[in-house]
Amino acid sequence: MTSITVRAAAKVNLHLGVGAPRPDGYHPLHTVYTTIGLHDDVTATAAAELGVTLTGLGGVDVSDVPVAPGSNLVHAAAAALADLHGVAVTGALHIAKSIPVAGGLAGGSADAAAALVALDRLLDLQTSDDDLLRLAAALGSDVPFALLGGIAVGTGRGEIVQPVPTDVHLAWVVCTDPQGLSTPEVYRHFDRLFPDADPTPPAPDALLAALAAADVTGIAEALHNDLQDAAVDLRPELGARVDHGVAAGALAGLVSGSGPTVVLLCADPEAARAVAAEMAGRSPGVQVAHGPVAGAHVVEYAD
Ligand code: C5P
Repeated sequence: MTSITVRAAAKVNLHLGVGAPRPDGYHPLHTVYTTIGLHDDVTATAAAELGVTLTGLGGVDVSDVPVAPGSNLVHAAAAALADLHGVAVTGALHIAKSIPVAGGLAGGSADAAAALVALDRLLDLQTSDDDLLRLAAALGSDVPFALLGGIAVGTGRGEIVQPVPTDVHLAWVVCTDPQGLSTPEVYRHFDRLFPDADPTPPAPDALLAALAAADVTGIAEALHNDLQDAAVDLRPELGARVDHGVAAGALAGLVSGSGPTVVLLCADPEAARAVAAEMAGRSPGVQVAHGPVAGAHVVEYAD
């Protein structure tokens, strides 16, 4: 095989419970992730060196994404595989990005997960699923979920993932913003706003029950993000965007992860199209996306 393309999806946190920072600086999480149908494709082509190139699709601005050696998580993914197997891991990696950068949708984590799978298959390393998940956890808190896909509970710093079996289909309007937000900055602001945060964020029982029942209205009522106040305090227009979405007919809206993307949950695909049309003048980028979708998976081989 000379080339392989792996697709990995964006994530939204249906629930993001954040606790007081741990001694290592990370925040304990109790989160429920879902994938949505916005994805990056990573193509790995046989080459003697490791190289990374990048294209932004659909207006995604990639000018701030570093590709120099050591600067992008996909380099770290290659290094992690090399360490595990004791072999040189090389290849020309091309990232075709449809997930907005620094958007709270874990696009960089999706690329890392896709690169792990693409290089593993290209070089026939036969890494076990357990090892892939372990390497993913070391790369970033959201990377194991990008491998797994679907809907999952995340604990620890988000890296311990447990699939949630559900038949639910969710129709989202995704409101992106060209001015990204830094995840560490939003967490630091959370610490300033909530110096007495609980060390252990509680389990989202109502959301899990609504997911088990595939009850979209119940899911909408249970959506919650502990980082939302911090993100909205830094960028007040995000709060207005959530309110506009609900006024436009969404069941509920929230900031995705650390923001600035706002996601609006709608009753069905038709409602999502109507809400997207209403939001078009009120948000810099608006698109409809459905979920959950699969985790990192092969979409193309070339010999
Ligand atoms: O794990 P990852 O490298 O993706 O995290 C990026 C940054 O987000 C961390 O350096 C930290 O500032 C913040 N973070 C956190 N607690 C988490 C996850 C991320 O404080 N559970």
